[in-house]
Amino acid sequence: MPTGALKAGRGLELRPLRLADARALFEQVDANRTRLRRWLPWPDANRSPADSRLYILRMRAQARTGLGASYGLWWKDRLVGVAGFNWIDQPNRSGALGYWLAREAEGRGLMTAAVAALLRHGFRTLALNRIEIRAGLRNRRSRAIPERLGFRREGTLRQAEWVNGRFVDHAVYGLLASEWRGNVR
Ligand SMILES: CC(C)(COP(=O)(O)OP(=O)(O)OC[C@H]1O[C@@H](n2cnc3c(N)ncnc32)[C@H](O)[C@@H]1OP(=O)(O)O)[C@@H](O)C(=O)NCCC(=O)NCCS
Repeated sequence: MPTGALKAGRGLELRPLRLADARALFEQVDANRTRLRRWLPWPDANRSPADSRLYILRMRAQARTGLGASYGLWWKDRLVGVAGFNWIDQPNRSGALGYWLAREAEGRGLMTAAVAALLRHGFRTLALNRIEIRAGLRNRRSRAIPERLGFRREGTLRQAEWVNGRFVDHAVYGLLASEWRGNVR
């Protein structure tokens, strides 16, 4: 298992993104562009493997400074998505998760397993106290993940994000270390 990788069960492994992943990452973004751009603002600006390389460099710098942690999702020897802490706020021991999956990997519980592994990592290894997920109010598949994992719905941020020509409201979910089911050993 590569350094810093997290096992998520179901044959899924979360590996810190490496520059060598740039081509595979770009190919998945390119193949899933129409689905992804519905809920994510960045696919239109990702037009080549060089853009994916820049993204990976940014994520690696963020990880080195402890301000975030992004992982490639590896399943059946393929990179099928990305998940991780979009930001980590160390003084407040708080972090926010983001994620996307390729169509070929959707509908199998893989992202729920990946997020469960990130919760374990966040609460146990990074000693976070609060983990947040913001999902588009109408993004049923994304909202189902925190709902399955016992997050509490904390509210709605109205017109929180400009996504390809429209403002999207965000449903905010939070989970505290004291509420996390994995805390029960
Ligand atoms: C959001 C996204 C990652 C959710 O993917 P997903 O495949 O629905 O989520 P999971 O991998 O956890 O799988 C859950 C699905 O697998 C099914 N499943 C099968 N076995 C399962 C298991 N053991 N545990 C949980 N779910 C399981 C669930 O029933 C569910 O399917 P359903 O919605 O048809 O009922 C994906 O739709 C995506 O990438 N969307 C575009 C980008 C995006 O919106 N990102 C989030 C921005 S906030």
